[in-house]
Amino acid sequence: MTRLQASNVTFAYNKEPIIENLNMTIPEGEITVLIGSNGCGKSTLLKMLARLLFPSKGGVYLNDNEMLSLPAKAVAKELAVLPQSAVSPEGLTVRQLVKQGRYPYQSWLKQWSKEDEEMVEYALDATGLTDLRDRPLNALSGGQRQRAWIAMTLTQGTKTLLLDEPTTYLDLTHQVDVLDLLFELNEKEQRTIVMVLHDINLACRYAHNIVAVKDKRIYAQGRPEEIITVNTLKEVFQMDCEIIYDPIFGSPLCVPHGRGRAVSNHMSPKTPHI
Ligand SMILES: Nc1ncnc2c1ncn2[C@@H]1O[C@H](COP(=O)(O)OP(=O)(O)O)[C@@H](O)[C@H]1O
Ligand SMILES: [Mg+2]
Repeated sequence: MTRLQASNVTFAYNKEPIIENLNMTIPEGEITVLIGSNGCGKSTLLKMLARLLFPSKGGVYLNDNEMLSLPAKAVAKELAVLPQSAVSPEGLTVRQLVKQGRYPYQSWLKQWSKEDEEMVEYALDATGLTDLRDRPLNALSGGQRQRAWIAMTLTQGTKTLLLDEPTTYLDLTHQVDVLDLLFELNEKEQRTIVMVLHDINLACRYAHNIVAVKDKRIYAQGRPEEIITVNTLKEVFQMDCEIIYDPIFGSPLCVPHGRGRAVSNHMSPKTPHI
């Protein structure tokens, strides 16, 4: 299993600290979701975990090795990353994109192998894209395209997946599709998943572990049912809300205050049935 840990990390763009003295251990074999308001540093933190950015202080450790000391290809065999708003080269087909996930295993000496081919087939199958394999990416729906990116990360064959907003721009059906797929990968194959999500209710439904980021540090971390409280949401999002519970899964559901149309409550026990 891949052990991923940030130890006392600080990161600054142009001397403006975004993350400061932050400690975090990613629980192995679990789904961790990063939440926090826009611009609080979630993508920055995920990129540091992925070795795409290096902290100015402290270190990120993979299996107890400092990321800086590890070659990029070695890291890519342990961690696959889906960046926020990934852009695909013009004209690429699903299969061509998915094949790119095998780059850590390619070299001058080692050409495309049977194992590479099998991984591509597995990823296309796992994401339900086998029939769309030869379709250009620009001829896919947003949900299908997002699945193609996820398939590319799967072909890397890593134990850990890091995904930045994998459901943004998708309709609710496709959001649930993508999250169900990640949930299955976690459940059946014990993959460790770390992702940024904006939908707190979906985060609570799928995550074993939520990390709420605020003021350059972790404000709260733990099981959704323990940390998603009226107080946490007020502090992290400056939002007043009620917490109720999901009737299907029992996970916390956040109902924001604010303005809205008042509807006479037909579900209320006080309302006589007609
Ligand atoms: N390449 C960059 N150069 C300078 N500032 C950046 C850069 N990327 C992000 N930032 C700033 O860093 C902060 C954190 O960004 P980010 O990690 O993308 O936040 P989040 O993902 O939580 O919305 C924001 O204020 C953003 O404007
Ligand atoms: Mg972001």
